[in-house]
Amino acid sequence: MSQVSLCNVTKTYPNGTRAVSNLNLGVESREFMALVGPSGCGKTTALRMIAGLESVTEGKIYIGKYLVNNTPARDRDIAMVFQNYALYPYMNVYENMAFGLKLRGYPTTEIEKRVKEAALILEIEDILSRRPYELSGGERQRVAVGRAIVRKPLVFLFDEPLSNLDANLRAQMRTELHRLHLKLRTTMIYVTHDQVEAMTLGDRIAVMKEGTIFQTEAPMSVYKNPANKFVAGFIGSPPMNFIDGGIVKKDDKLYFDEGSFQVKIAENTKKPLLDWVDKKLIFGIRPEDIYDRLFISEAPPENIFKAFLEVAEPMGSESHLHFKTARQNRFIAKIPSIQKPGAGQDMELVFDMSKAHFFNKDTENTIV
Ligand SMILES: Nc1ncnc2c1ncn2[C@@H]1O[C@H](COP(=O)(O)OP(=O)(O)O)[C@@H](O)[C@H]1O
Ligand SMILES: [Mg+2]
Repeated sequence: MSQVSLCNVTKTYPNGTRAVSNLNLGVESREFMALVGPSGCGKTTALRMIAGLESVTEGKIYIGKYLVNNTPARDRDIAMVFQNYALYPYMNVYENMAFGLKLRGYPTTEIEKRVKEAALILEIEDILSRRPYELSGGERQRVAVGRAIVRKPLVFLFDEPLSNLDANLRAQMRTELHRLHLKLRTTMIYVTHDQVEAMTLGDRIAVMKEGTIFQTEAPMSVYKNPANKFVAGFIGSPPMNFIDGGIVKKDDKLYFDEGSFQVKIAENTKKPLLDWVDKKLIFGIRPEDIYDRLFISEAPPENIFKAFLEVAEPMGSESHLHFKTARQNRFIAKIPSIQKPGAGQDMELVFDMSKAHFFNKDTENTIV
């Protein structure tokens, strides 16, 4: 029974900062939940409240069946891994991992067994006698995780544990954490500002902004059906393109009208947009849903439009093309690198309109 629930949790710091407001989150037993949002949105505060390191101003936190608002951190059976590792500099790796168990009065034989087990899982058996200053960033990170593993907690909390590592190591440790979760199957709550980490690690991701969670779903559901413009723009790289415009109706067909071009609305998004005829809204399209017209032989003529290619960025297997419309709207397309168009010219493009998104200009909520 290691599910974690936050019900209408609010945190106001003594200085008046409301870091978390009315937060609702239900983490299932054995689930890997990734809490993702920009810096300052309240992720660390939320995690520290779950750990018991920070008091809850309003609302309730449950671990398993138990209300833990007033349970001290040491009695919550939770282990937290911090961004800065917080290893004890004068202890070697073994002692760092053993320390928490020693404090809790575990017998030496049990401590030894658990540290060895954790060292084996994390492949750090060879460095048990080293001090933190003798370790690489990746090794320090493993030790910090090891210190959490030996406790065999009900729930692991991770606060941006990879952000101090360089890009290669970060990707490698990400895979290791994924493997660790598959092996231990313990409930994990993982906080990050990095949407790639959240997408790749989370069974589900919770997207947070300004103290509130906007959407909690499986990564690909969030990607395909974002609840609002913020979520749509935050998840995915390069981010979704947004273009202001309106909906116009001609005969029985609907079009998105950018001002310098019109594209036909696809059947799967048409119905909710009938209410938006002659009204302003925001059109959203992901970079990978834009195609070079030359490569789409079956493109409907009414969906082909021109835009000026300002910059082409080769990324290896794909290129990012930066376009500008006659109305000065900018957007990015992601296309396979073999197509290699040169910058500084007009190009004919096609949107996959069945993948288009539309947002209310005032509320920024998703229309469809
Ligand atoms: N101890 C504190 N006292 C006052 N304000 C704080 C404290 N800790 C964090 N904050 C503020 O609360 C907000 C959320 O911070 P934090 O939870 O650290 O966000 P994140 O981890 O998402 O970057 C920020 O505006 C931050 O400045
Ligand atoms: Mg933080």
